[in-house]
Amino acid sequence: MLMKKMTNSTIQTAAHSGITLDSLRVSYHDNVVLKPLSLTIEPGEILVLIGPSGSGKTTVLRAIAGFAQPDSGRILLGDTDITHLPPYQRGLGMVVQNYALFPHMKVEDNVAFGLRAQKQPKSLVNERVIEALKIVGMTDYATRYPHQLSGGQQQRVAIARAIAVRPRVLLLDEPLSALDAQIRHNMVEEIARLHRELPELTILYVTHDQTEALALGDKIGIMKEGYMVAHGEKNTLYHQPPNRFAAEFLGRANILPATALGDIPPSGQMTVSCLGALIEAQTSAVRSSGHKLVCVRPQHISLSPRPETTNHLNATLRSINWKGDLTHLICDIANETISVAVTHLHPSPQIGDPLTLWFSPANTILIEA
Ligand SMILES: Nc1ncnc2c1ncn2[C@@H]1O[C@H](COP(=O)(O)OP(=O)(O)O)[C@@H](O)[C@H]1O
Ligand SMILES: [Mg+2]
Repeated sequence: MLMKKMTNSTIQTAAHSGITLDSLRVSYHDNVVLKPLSLTIEPGEILVLIGPSGSGKTTVLRAIAGFAQPDSGRILLGDTDITHLPPYQRGLGMVVQNYALFPHMKVEDNVAFGLRAQKQPKSLVNERVIEALKIVGMTDYATRYPHQLSGGQQQRVAIARAIAVRPRVLLLDEPLSALDAQIRHNMVEEIARLHRELPELTILYVTHDQTEALALGDKIGIMKEGYMVAHGEKNTLYHQPPNRFAAEFLGRANILPATALGDIPPSGQMTVSCLGALIEAQTSAVRSSGHKLVCVRPQHISLSPRPETTNHLNATLRSINWKGDLTHLICDIANETISVAVTHLHPSPQIGDPLTLWFSPANTILIEA
């Protein structure tokens, strides 16, 4: 019942919980860190921002939360311009990497903190604390102190504290990066569950971990040096990366030189020449002909030749690396190296054997060089 009440009350604000960054420029002293950046996050969406360290991800979050002042541009929450609103008036929740719980406060007091700061009545504070702890599965730990909790539990409490004030938007900055791999995996599931329980909550999740990004995001934004170099549905970004950086940041990718002659069909596919072979590839990411790159993921390459006349490459096997679920084969073609990932190898080829590689045109993407 508690849950239902919460959902109903947040529905009213759902339409106002989208975020728009409109040509946002942020600098620290003379160093322009976001140059300028535009982005829309739909109400109730999980957007994962991913990019290398220093690319500006935290700065995006800090600007939205009100802790970094933009030089120019606007930040909208729904239709409301919040660019110059103080942080506490923005109605956002934030969770950072190192938990940042108050060590001298019990779990329940940590979770109650924001509500007490808002001077909410005691009964409401209690109700919301119980509700938030229930959502993160920490009801039994209400009277413990942070040092009596594991890292994963502390981070759950940090999330409970952030959602207790019923923010319209939840900002998470690498919330799992201090946790070890197994707990991280479980926490990703829990954040996904949290979003199913609070579907109106808009979530902006920052990580440098591609597994987290692909597991959590409805959409993914890829940042590089203060620019958003790719933004879109995660499946589209993974299967049709718009550029080399996006291809290599979201998973492993073989990037091979290619030449495209003639007109480029605006969407659809065309035959290009690549390492002496004819390759049929998707063209939505390119605009002109000439020197291009072909992108194909290791697990999309098969060792069984097909009747098709295109999309075969003759390679030589250099090494085999068994990696548990997948076996990686490193192959040479002229001066290029190609990585192939297969689930089983039978019969197993020998190092130095010639191999014929095949990949479907649907999984072969032409990108700009
Ligand atoms: N408080 C600050 N003062 C000066 N430079 C900063 C500050 N915070 C971040 N930067 C710089 O801004 C750039 C982007 O940082 P950040 O947004 O933290 O990147 P990310 O979160 O992607 O690692 C980096 O070059 C960083 O050194
Ligand atoms: Mg950061």
